[in-house]
Amino acid sequence: MSLARLPTPLEFLPRATAAWGCGKRLWIKRDDLTGSTLTGNKVRKLEFIAGFAKAQGVDTLITCGGLQSNHARATANVCAKLGWHCELVLRGRHPLSEGNTLLDQLFGAEVTAVEPRRYSEHLDSILEERAEHHRSLGRQPLIIPTGGSNGLGIWGYVSGAEELVADMASADISLATIVTATGSGGTQAGLTLGMALFKPDCAVWGIAVCDDAQYFQTKVSQDIAEAQEIWPGLGSDDFTINTSDAHVGPGYGRATTPVYERIAALASLEGIVLDPVYTGKAFHGLCEELARGAYSEVNDIIFVHTGGIYGIFPHGQQLAAAASQPASTLN
Ligand SMILES: Cc1ncc(COP(=O)(O)O)c(C=O)c1O
Repeated sequence: MSLARLPTPLEFLPRATAAWGCGKRLWIKRDDLTGSTLTGNKVRKLEFIAGFAKAQGVDTLITCGGLQSNHARATANVCAKLGWHCELVLRGRHPLSEGNTLLDQLFGAEVTAVEPRRYSEHLDSILEERAEHHRSLGRQPLIIPTGGSNGLGIWGYVSGAEELVADMASADISLATIVTATGSGGTQAGLTLGMALFKPDCAVWGIAVCDDAQYFQTKVSQDIAEAQEIWPGLGSDDFTINTSDAHVGPGYGRATTPVYERIAALASLEGIVLDPVYTGKAFHGLCEELARGAYSEVNDIIFVHTGGIYGIFPHGQQLAAAASQPASTLN
């Protein structure tokens, strides 16, 4: 189903390259431009998931995530666009009407906030109960897993990889390393499978914003295996799952001062805004990796801007503090 504004641009970052490239050229794939309120990576996955749902006669999407989940907001947006019902099961106590949660409300999503411990222990049964509730009202619900990351959703980034390979040809880039934030693993999985299909010499690196490399090894392999089951014959097993888990910092949703400073510095250098939970943390990780001499085999690095702009608002104070002083400690 066509939902995203595609193709998104691939842009060169001249001043970020001079400041942090360590001899490599830095590029950014602007998947924050997939839509205004639909912004980010999730809509690429939802094109496949909602297309499947429509074919099955579904009229209600149920999904889950943190209070400020970008995937939940994008799902609520898609449902409003299609005239479907939406229920979001969000981890946390009362959601403030701020950033993504404000948009969830505007899109008319039904929000069930679940206390964090109960959420971690009983998520599957809560989702199933909610689906049963919608069935009892005569609706046809579909449960979408966290981040839309499953064998269906990741096709969004298999096709995203195909688009990226065309971008590289237009920009005359023959070899690059592709870097993305990784959280529920689907973007990394789709790009890993897609690049293995369309340009196997380009490595894909996920910079983890939570969990560890072993977790992503398992999750990404599972998602890819599921995608290959859906479309047998397409997709080789000849891929490497690369994850850096050195930049998670204090944990999911928490950022350090240098991450806020990096976001402020990139915004003022290039006019591009990253978020503290995903893209800012991952881009900061990328710059740290470059500073220690990583990715030595390539001259070009492509960072995938996976969106998240509405996630800056709950971090307004920290970002304002970072913007008010020169980021002298960044290398
Ligand atoms: C803005 C943003 N970037 C990156 C990610 C990570 O993508 P994935 O969940 O596919 O690993 C997310 C996931 O929630 C996100 O919202």
